[in-house]
Amino acid sequence: MNLDATKLSELDAFMAETAHKTNSHSYVIAVLHKAQQLFGYLPREAMDYIAHAMNIPTAHIWGVATFYHFFNLKPVGKHPVSVCMGTACYVKGAKLVLDAIKEELRITIGETTEDGIFTLQETRCIGACGLAPVMMVGDKIYGDITPKKAVKVLAQIRKETV
Ligand code: FES
Repeated sequence: MNLDATKLSELDAFMAETAHKTNSHSYVIAVLHKAQQLFGYLPREAMDYIAHAMNIPTAHIWGVATFYHFFNLKPVGKHPVSVCMGTACYVKGAKLVLDAIKEELRITIGETTEDGIFTLQETRCIGACGLAPVMMVGDKIYGDITPKKAVKVLAQIRKETV
């Protein structure tokens, strides 16, 4: 994969601008965030590029990128779907919701539907336990979700996206 030159210059500018502002670890995180924002995920080439530019071993960049769940190492769909698997959601049936979504979309955690519309993720508590169980599609939270409601919401979103 060849990385877009305009996006790389933007990444360069970001690295130059923030290099002296943060400590090394949070600087790496900030740069990875910027790269993910530019490319939609973290392509291997982008991580190699950052490692080279920052003079840090690629293994360290990979370590950070794989440690934090908010970094995507594969391309993601237009709508990230996540089901909270925190305790409150889990005891109220989140697993059943997740299973229904997997079956409906025919993908598992970390995968993207063939049409590129949905990427399925699971998340820990998002702080909306009063609404448990909770599903998120992009930034939108769906509370008191049931397997049936989840499938209906996704069908509606797919209809509006196609
Ligand atoms: S456990 Fe799901 S929002 Fe808190």
